[in-house]
Amino acid sequence: VLQLTLAVIKPDAVAHPLMLEALHQIILDNNFGIVKCKDLVWRRQDSERFYAEHSGRFFYQRLVEFMSSGPMRAYILAREDAISYWRELMGPTKVFRARFNSPASIRGQFGLTDTRNTTHGSDSLESAQREITFFFPDFCADEWMKKE
Ligand code: CMP
Repeated sequence: VLQLTLAVIKPDAVAHPLMLEALHQIILDNNFGIVKCKDLVWRRQDSERFYAEHSGRFFYQRLVEFMSSGPMRAYILAREDAISYWRELMGPTKVFRARFNSPASIRGQFGLTDTRNTTHGSDSLESAQREITFFFPDFCADEWMKKE
């Protein structure tokens, strides 16, 4: 089914022009429709709010700091099975696993650390809806996000 997902190119990747270009090309090469795209910088409180579910985890502070450390690029992407397809392209969260088990994935190629892992992608329909609204409050996702 045609789905939307929220994909983010994180500050580590946006800081590197070649990486940003490569990631944009990966999106195009994999037949995603780019519904929306914008560059933005989070304040610390945006970062805390977005990742509230991770508060208390050992990596929360470094995650929050990293995600508000510089410009990001957010996309609403449309494709058949966009949510799982984008996550498959990203590869595992942990850079060690990404390097060894999925060397061709985005994180396998470009991930620096478990925190500085280049990209984010929604992990379910519910999180896609929440995250799209978080990044693009004016976007009306209702019609798109209906379950079949
Ligand atoms: P993301 O897909 O954006 O969702 C949560 C983020 O937390 C994740 O990518 C990583 O950036 C970060 N993260 C998850 N697990 C760890 C970990 N074990 N150590 C450090 N950062 C982590």
